[in-house]
Amino acid sequence: MTDLTGKKILLGLTGGVAAYKSAELCRLFVKAGADVQVVMTESATRFIAPMTLQALSGKPVFHDMWDARIANHMAHIELSRDRDLILVAPATADFMAKLAHGLADDLLSTLCLAREVPLYVAPAMNRQMWENPATQRNAAQLSADGIHILGPDEGEQACGETGMGRMLEPEALFDHIAIALGDKPLAGKRVLLTAGPTFEPIDTVRGITNLSSGKMGFAVAQAAVEAGAQVTLIAGPTALATPTGVRRENVMTAREMHRAVMAHVAEADVFIGVAAVADYYVANASDRKLKKSNGKPRIELEENPDILAEVAALPNAPYCVGFAAETENLHEYAQAKRASKKIPLLAANLAHNAFGRDENELILFHDEGETRLPRASKLEVARGLIREIAARLPNR
Ligand code: C5P
Repeated sequence: MTDLTGKKILLGLTGGVAAYKSAELCRLFVKAGADVQVVMTESATRFIAPMTLQALSGKPVFHDMWDARIANHMAHIELSRDRDLILVAPATADFMAKLAHGLADDLLSTLCLAREVPLYVAPAMNRQMWENPATQRNAAQLSADGIHILGPDEGEQACGETGMGRMLEPEALFDHIAIALGDKPLAGKRVLLTAGPTFEPIDTVRGITNLSSGKMGFAVAQAAVEAGAQVTLIAGPTALATPTGVRRENVMTAREMHRAVMAHVAEADVFIGVAAVADYYVANASDRKLKKSNGKPRIELEENPDILAEVAALPNAPYCVGFAAETENLHEYAQAKRASKKIPLLAANLAHNAFGRDENELILFHDEGETRLPRASKLEVARGLIREIAARLPNR
């Protein structure tokens, strides 16, 4: 469990059945060392007794805007001033609607409006309420306003229906908040990375590509943002959603990827080449669809630029990290690749075929030898890689 000693959380509860799970969430935060101040709406107190949360947090619980316990009667300001963040869990459809419109008619909504700290909400509601266009509009507005929405999850609901709308489990919410409160070892650093496959046209509708899904590169981009970096992602063709906070530029071919990287590299402190870049492009690509009746086409291949090697050779090169997908003699080939591209860190995929999978396993090759990142979700592995990069980054 992540240590949250010294972290100060304001945990808000609104009126939903999932409120009982927030008692467990409160306990997890306290067990990890966090200082938790609980604020409830009046309807939340119908679902779970304030006394339960008071016992778990070890602090008085507030739910009344006119509470006389705060000397200057400024509970709506005072309660969040010393906090690192606010988490509202569960957040009802009604509460999300209030946040979207800036309404402040009780203590918790007023606190959220008067906040200076990041706000996280964990929606919990019946699936039809979640799917209702009004709720979807409000959720989009909250995201646009910089409020972080955690979940909801899909599954069985208290009303007996099944679908989207369940609150994330306390353990999952704990993990999200622990990351938000975690170290920012790449704060102030700029990370440039490539991800996904490239597509090299043969004619207007056909081309040469590969099975890279982009999942590993997108996970690395997310992990870098979590670590506090400013991230620019140059993505080959993939339908993956852009991780929150990442600046993304889409490209098709290796040469476009090369151009985009070169346009941004001067500002980068770190360059990570995760993309599976095609080694060759079709020099005689047709600007019309080739016809079978015209006979077997002759495809002439020319070499693509090696983006990573070129970046590493720049006079003021960023810290360069490469990826390698080897199927045999992994150690030998990976070390040789690190040396030939003259890069300080090379991540070799251990998963037999990592392409398209959700899990991966890496061996990192560096000056001191090797570091193994054991099999886990691509995001977990990406976080491990980012920690390693941050620890090795020279002070520039
Ligand atoms: O040489 P190889 O393709 O095996 O090297 C893989 C590493 O080099 C990856 O980090 C990949 O993103 C990068 N690369 C590149 N440009 C190329 C080929 C590979 O940046 N043309």
